Amino acid sequence: MRTVFINIRELIQIRPVGQKSVAGKAMKTLPKINNAFLIVQNDCISGFGLMTDFKAQNGDQIIDATDRLILPCWCDSHSHVVYAGNRSQEFVDRINGLSYEDIAQRGGGILNSAKTLQNTSEDDIFEQSFDRIEKLIRLGTGALEIKSGYGLTTDAELKMLRVIRSIGHHSELKIKSTFLGAHAVPEQYKTNKEAYIDLIINEMLPKICQENLTDFIDVFCEKGYFGLVDTKRILTAAKNYNLQSKIHVNQFNAFGGIKLAVDFNALTVDHLEQLEDKDIVALKNSETMPVALPGCSFFLGIPYTPARVLINAGLPLALASDYNPGSSPSGNMNFVVSLACIKMNMTPEEAINAASINGAHAMGISEQYGSITIGKKANLILTKKMQSYHQIPYEFGNNPVHNVMLNGRFIE
Ligand code: NIG
Ligand code: FE
Repeated sequence: MRTVFINIRELIQIRPVGQKSVAGKAMKTLPKINNAFLIVQNDCISGFGLMTDFKAQNGDQIIDATDRLILPCWCDSHSHVVYAGNRSQEFVDRINGLSYEDIAQRGGGILNSAKTLQNTSEDDIFEQSFDRIEKLIRLGTGALEIKSGYGLTTDAELKMLRVIRSIGHHSELKIKSTFLGAHAVPEQYKTNKEAYIDLIINEMLPKICQENLTDFIDVFCEKGYFGLVDTKRILTAAKNYNLQSKIHVNQFNAFGGIKLAVDFNALTVDHLEQLEDKDIVALKNSETMPVALPGCSFFLGIPYTPARVLINAGLPLALASDYNPGSSPSGNMNFVVSLACIKMNMTPEEAINAASINGAHAMGISEQYGSITIGKKANLILTKKMQSYHQIPYEFGNNPVHNVMLNGRFIE
């Protein structure tokens, strides 16, 4: 049976088969059809076009989308949505004057989340995380990368990655997982970071790869966390397992991490709130995609990633939520797209491209997700009634989503 959307005011983000991402000036274009139809068969997009060319077939299930828009679901390529508890007390501490770094230095921050997660059962972590996932789907997210990194022991990292796998099995969301054992140095390794890196390389990585629990490897390459030498060791070890990397880098300090990531042919470099000219040069000679996380800049009050500099240099850019308990406790991609326009001077076209097709590329799934393309998964946002897609970022804080289709089925 076919499900057919008719009278779609704007069918947005139409791309040819084979297009994996958009970069530079091309990000300003968001291909669309006004007054369109779209056909879904099984779990995929099987046709679309102008309403004037539409011919109904017997048995079609027709959905009238008059005054509504359809776009591909958001592809959120960077999240830490699997965590236990929350850090709302640290949020209040920051309001009262402490910085994110102050809180981390006194044993809070990532180590605080790690302690809570270590003491929470796998089932409980699953329940708490799945609840967040269900809310994200209602906000239009259709594919999500989730990182480990709140375990920081072999057992707890495995526990997190098993929860991520289980979310993938129990949800209609497309899930990609990333091993982030190098998220922070645990207290007992404070004076011997090398021993913790040994543990990551010699114990965690082999076990995780043996259970096939991760798609990517990540390192928090930052002062006070993991430096260039540490990052290089971990990425070298990950090569033996053919794990491509997605690196947290240049969040607070720029010290050559982007060049290092590019040398390892990283799929993405994420954060980039601090950017130097030589970082742009490194990225221009690479296939590595920059990823901006404006929710984190908003929540921590730190600079935004200079999107204009990256895009004007001809580079691609993806947008992601960074959903995590410490620096971005929201996974609302509609708000991320708004922030990108309001705070990073991206046009709505650039922001939507960055949160859909480029987001899909940033987790290696753009062959099947991120655009309206025949043969791609029918992961679709049907919007509330609106005039044009400009209203998605313009009406910040609103939920523009009327309904969501994942794999050809409306969510309940
Ligand atoms: O992407 N930068 C490192 N990791 C997260 C924050 C994690 C936390 O504070 O719990 C981030 O911002
Ligand atoms: Fe992050």
